[in-house]
Amino acid sequence: MLLKISIWSLIVKLAFSANYDFTYNGFKGATNLSLDSLAALTSDGLLMLTNDTYHGKGHAFFSVPIQFKKSPAGKVITFSTLFVFAIVPEYTEFGNHGLAFVLSASEDLSHAWGEYYLGLLNETNNGKPSNNIFAVELDITLNPENEDINDNHVGIDINSIISNYSTAAGFTSDDDGQFKNLRLISGEPMQVWIEYDGLNMQLNVTLSPLWMPKPKTALLSYTINLSSIILDRMYVGFSASTGMAYAYQYILGWSFKTDGKVPELNISSLPRLPQTTTASKDKLKNISTWLPISLSVFVLMAAAGAKIIMVRKEMFSELREDWELDFELHRFSYKQLYKATRGFKHEYLLGVGGFGRVYRGVLPDTKVEVAIKRVCHESRQGVREFVAEIVSLGQLQHRNLVPLLGYCRREGELILVYEYMPNRSLDKLLFCEGKSTLSWSQRFWIIKGVASGLLYLHEDWERVVIHRDVKASNVLLDGDMNGRLGDFGLARLYDHGGVPQTTHLAGTVGYLAPELSRTCRVKTSSDVFAFGVFLLEIACGRRPIDREKPEEQQVLIDWVSANWRKGTILETRDERLGEEYVAEELELVLKLGLLCSHPLPTARPNMRRVTQLLHGDIPIPDPLLNQLNTKDSAFVKYEGSNAYVMSFTSISSESLLFTGR
Ligand SMILES: *[C@@H]1O[C@H](CO)[C@@H](O)[C@H](O)[C@H]1NC(C)=O
Ligand SMILES: *[C@@H]1O[C@H](CO)[C@@H](O)[C@H](O)[C@H]1NC(C)=O
Ligand SMILES: *[C@@H]1O[C@H](CO)[C@@H](O)[C@H](O)[C@H]1NC(C)=O
Ligand SMILES: *[C@@H]1O[C@H](CO)[C@@H](O)[C@H](O)[C@H]1NC(C)=O
Ligand SMILES: *[C@@H]1O[C@H](CO)[C@@H](O)[C@H](O)[C@H]1NC(C)=O
Ligand SMILES: *[C@@H]1O[C@H](CO)[C@@H](O)[C@H](O)[C@H]1NC(C)=O
Ligand SMILES: *[C@@H]1O[C@H](CO)[C@@H](O)[C@H](O)[C@H]1NC(C)=O
Ligand SMILES: *[C@@H]1O[C@H](CO)[C@@H](O)[C@H](O)[C@H]1NC(C)=O
Ligand SMILES: *[C@@H]1O[C@H](CO)[C@@H](O)[C@H](O)[C@H]1NC(C)=O
Repeated sequence: MLLKISIWSLIVKLAFSANYDFTYNGFKGATNLSLDSLAALTSDGLLMLTNDTYHGKGHAFFSVPIQFKKSPAGKVITFSTLFVFAIVPEYTEFGNHGLAFVLSASEDLSHAWGEYYLGLLNETNNGKPSNNIFAVELDITLNPENEDINDNHVGIDINSIISNYSTAAGFTSDDDGQFKNLRLISGEPMQVWIEYDGLNMQLNVTLSPLWMPKPKTALLSYTINLSSIILDRMYVGFSASTGMAYAYQYILGWSFKTDGKVPELNISSLPRLPQTTTASKDKLKNISTWLPISLSVFVLMAAAGAKIIMVRKEMFSELREDWELDFELHRFSYKQLYKATRGFKHEYLLGVGGFGRVYRGVLPDTKVEVAIKRVCHESRQGVREFVAEIVSLGQLQHRNLVPLLGYCRREGELILVYEYMPNRSLDKLLFCEGKSTLSWSQRFWIIKGVASGLLYLHEDWERVVIHRDVKASNVLLDGDMNGRLGDFGLARLYDHGGVPQTTHLAGTVGYLAPELSRTCRVKTSSDVFAFGVFLLEIACGRRPIDREKPEEQQVLIDWVSANWRKGTILETRDERLGEEYVAEELELVLKLGLLCSHPLPTARPNMRRVTQLLHGDIPIPDPLLNQLNTKDSAFVKYEGSNAYVMSFTSISSESLLFTGR
């Protein structure tokens, strides 16, 4: 009887537990939390969502689902949460990727991806209403894939990693009404209030440094009907991820309440961060009162000096193995590269590509301008072969290839040094808003250059090199506006199994030849396919898939081939060219683009033929084009996936270098 009553009361409690609240002033001995992946409780009582693991993620949920509706079809009730977090990044200037407060229908997010998916979603379910995921992200990385506004923002994510609303992180001071920026990766603890008013359907997010009372003005106030997103019961918690770089992402304290004002945290009882900077500041204050005892000061300074030397040593540490002796000539020291970029400072960052971050730098000794690419990869397996290949690729010399000057290795990281290309990448000029700065003659010149670079890789060097990622953003422009192919061979590193989840990364959606999804064999004809798409991009001045265009224009190949059949192929040209173009050349480029991106690999010309066609040495064959049919189009199968998201499909491939042909 007693048992029955207690079970009954438990059921009653669960079913009607409309007011749920909990408070964690630190997480020492905390219960009712489910942690996974990298997430762990530290002995100091911190909830650590991610550690120094690259390409990882971590989740922490309150293990009891919380009732968010009074009736299953009803409105979402009022709720609020307050938490204190700190993000301690790998480098002072950056870390990846950020953390989020999450309401999720399931506490099992093991299928979600790290990186810019923040451990919330993956490529397949991103954007689907069936996810029932609501998150407030604290994002520390600028990701073009997420349409991020900057690398330091707060966003509202509804079933998608592309935020419905986002704003730069900061707070409005109660004293002077001025907006003050807050750097999320400063390593300092900060408080976040997230409050939802169920009656007015208003969501407020407020941010402030730890020691400041809650600012009166919310950072963002967003009206949103959560009824269809939030289910009757949801799990509440946190998700965080790392990527090319890592960050320790901590929660110091957390309280949550439905139907009312969230309990305050007791700030003085929150755990301390395992970090020396804040502590040593306090110590210094005290030291100053002890100054008369100069001896201890001296000892301390000596100790600090030793520590600085140690830290510096660690800072410049690299990985060097015996087999690398052969490549000594091509090796840069990390210290050199560190100096060249003033410590990989943010203002030297040129961009973030599929493979890593690229910095601009000036080599300290020779004063040569370089582009430095940091490629993260975890296992050492295969690095030897890769370095050997990279070095041999470094011997490639052609005026339409970006010269590779050398490399450097660190734990979990490979750094490649290229000659700096002053006019950056072609996509920046091609897809910029407003008037295009690229004339037709410049475009035609770039096309011919890239064709000649690709021909060299395919046929004219001692071995066949397949580029595997030909696209406008991989074509760089030198000071004379020559198009130069960059990044060749990089796809190879990922074949060696360096990066989890992205193991067989190869190419970019929108440029992948259709046969790759069936045969998994990378051939020169798949490069020709991508080159065809590239030709269309240049002539039409737009990306291969553009969802903002009317339906029939969204897929570039389909649209151009439809126009070709109607006899209006020139109408697909980039309007920004005005009347300044050579009709014959433009038509040639468009037709050749279609021919190269033919769905049948055997129907595509090889690069030698492409070059002859471009120079008008032979007339372009029309009949082949007749077989082009929208249904065959390579792009149909990519509908639904986001263009320009790296393809994570497992296309494993043959070696990049086919020897002995
Ligand atoms: C954990 O759950 C138990 C039972 O549901 C509850 O009594 C306890 O207060 C919870 N602890 C916290 C910290 O909320
Ligand atoms: C990071 O967390 C993972 C998972 O808990 C663990 O295996 C790994 O050893 C941790 N790394 C460090 C340096 O503590
Ligand atoms: C994405 O997550 C869903 C679960 O939400 C899972 O079923 C699916 O297999 C995942 N897809 C990938 C590509 O990991
Ligand atoms: C959030 O944005 C997505 C598309 O970006 C849109 O489909 C959805 O309706 C938006 N949700 C809300 C509640 O505004
Ligand atoms: C949200 O902010 C607005 C304006 O700052 C305020 O009027 C409103 O009461 C706030 N709502 C909640 C739930 O805090
Ligand atoms: C909120 O959304 C739910 C479900 O989509 C709908 O039934 C309800 O009418 C909406 N409420 C308001 C006030 O628009
Ligand atoms: C806050 O924590 C401190 C230290 O643990 C404790 O002495 C103090 O009583 C707490 N204050 C409240 C209001 O609980
Ligand atoms: C600083 O010194 C005072 C007294 O000398 C002591 O009470 C206090 O705890 C010290 N603070 C730190 C951070 O060591
Ligand atoms: C290309 O680079 C040269 C030399 O740095 C410069 O003079 C020219 O303006 C650049 N052109 C464009 C379009 O950026």
